[in-house]
Amino acid sequence: MSTGSLRGRLKSGLRRAPQQPPPQRHDDWLQACGGERLDRIEAACAAGDPRGLSLFRALDADLWALLLTHEYDGYPAIRGLLPRVPEPALQARWNGAAGVPLAAQGAAFYRRLRAGFERYGERPLHDARVLDFGCGWGRLTRMLARDVAPERLFGCDPDEAILAVCRDGGVPGAFARSDRVPERLPFDGPFDLAYAFSVFTHLSEEAQERCLDALHAALAPGAVLVVTVRPPAYRELVAAPLEQVAPGYAFAPHLGEDHYGEAIVTLPYVRERWSGRFALLETDLLLADPFQLVLTLRRRL
Ligand SMILES: C[S@@+](CC[C@H](N)C(=O)[O-])C[C@H]1O[C@@H](n2cnc3c(N)ncnc32)[C@H](O)[C@@H]1O
Repeated sequence: MSTGSLRGRLKSGLRRAPQQPPPQRHDDWLQACGGERLDRIEAACAAGDPRGLSLFRALDADLWALLLTHEYDGYPAIRGLLPRVPEPALQARWNGAAGVPLAAQGAAFYRRLRAGFERYGERPLHDARVLDFGCGWGRLTRMLARDVAPERLFGCDPDEAILAVCRDGGVPGAFARSDRVPERLPFDGPFDLAYAFSVFTHLSEEAQERCLDALHAALAPGAVLVVTVRPPAYRELVAAPLEQVAPGYAFAPHLGEDHYGEAIVTLPYVRERWSGRFALLETDLLLADPFQLVLTLRRRL
């Protein structure tokens, strides 16, 4: 995905997007797995229960992710409360997949994120201030919205048009534009948790450095940062030749872009070059998407 002039591409892209099959409906799965728990949540939503999205907190991450897809016809009160999802064509353009397969990848990352914060965070998630860095259409922001109240949930992205998709779709939280090569983030800190899924997989070395500096400045000392990077095997999938811009950092810009493209960052590079700002705590595979390596880091004091 290239990020230049998204508004135009959103319009023309959606017009020209190849025909997508109509989303499947998953009512049978929901009824089988959600049973009476979902019926109770449906009744609470219909009654305007003030607990809002926290009603969904105890559900398994996959069930929660499936609910967020809206790919079912029952549970009208639940659907009415959950943020709207963009068309499958936009999901696919932004994330390379749509619907349930994309939800499965999102749920796998969300599990890792919650487990990492539980292990290394300095407060419970529901008390934390959380930032989705490079939030896109708020695919993952909405997953956190059952754990974190909207006034503590934030998303930023350089693309105004995709932020409008978040706001118009009713994704809880505050959304603001960040610069591609930022001096600072558009929100005041301190944050207790920030995450960036498939953002550092795309940045030039200069953009990466400035994003890390801005995140370091916005995170509280000891706060947790979770990002994904590409494993070296990803090199075989990239059509354009990647330039080795530094030992352990390879980058190929997308057409017409300076700072956005395909980036491979090795773990020795992360340990050496990020370590003044962030200590690497854990590295995890994501079998739901083997080309996203999940790094859990702690902001240095
Ligand atoms: C592949 S999408 C992933 C979106 C979202 N994190 C998700 O997982 O659904 C990459 C996102 O990074 C954003 N982005 C591009 N350059 C960025 C930068 N320098 N800083 C922050 N976000 C950036 C893009 O606009 C896009 O929304």
